[in-house]
Amino acid sequence: MSAERTLVVLKPDALQRGIAFEILSRFEKRGLRFVAVRLLKVDRTMAEKHYAVHKGKFFYNDLVGVITASPVVAAVLEGPNAIAVVRAMVGSTRPHEASEGSIRGDYALVGLRNLVHASDAPETAASEIRLWFPDGIVEYTRDIDRWMSEDKAPS
Ligand code: CMP
Repeated sequence: MSAERTLVVLKPDALQRGIAFEILSRFEKRGLRFVAVRLLKVDRTMAEKHYAVHKGKFFYNDLVGVITASPVVAAVLEGPNAIAVVRAMVGSTRPHEASEGSIRGDYALVGLRNLVHASDAPETAASEIRLWFPDGIVEYTRDIDRWMSEDKAPS
């Protein structure tokens, strides 16, 4: 499988609790590489675009309120199966249903404080990456990548 890209957003609760980069380091240790990273305060317009799919749901206003409350760290991760791998590492949306060992299973208790957003499909990942990183990402490879991908046989 060739490299895939996915967006993760470390939400305000992750930064306020001081575990944002601890969470990001899990993705890096798993083998994914960062191709974009940004710390920002999300405004209401941006939040409404990001959560457009949830407009009208009972938790929508809270979602927008939480993500605009304090800065976030957004990142694009790249690697084989990145979308599925990151979603599995993050765990169920409702943390009380998340497996132990997943990020939410280890660190979170409730849905509106679930620490991290991760793209759920290739189309969503592409549009979310465009929204959060309008200036693009940084393309590069690492020597070690061939030891974690089936694309190129190590020699
Ligand atoms: P996230 O991955 O950011 O995408 C949408 C968010 O909506 C999700 O994380 C949760 O924070 C929130 N969410 C989804 N379903 C519920 C729910 N049933 N109750 C509360 N919050 C929810």
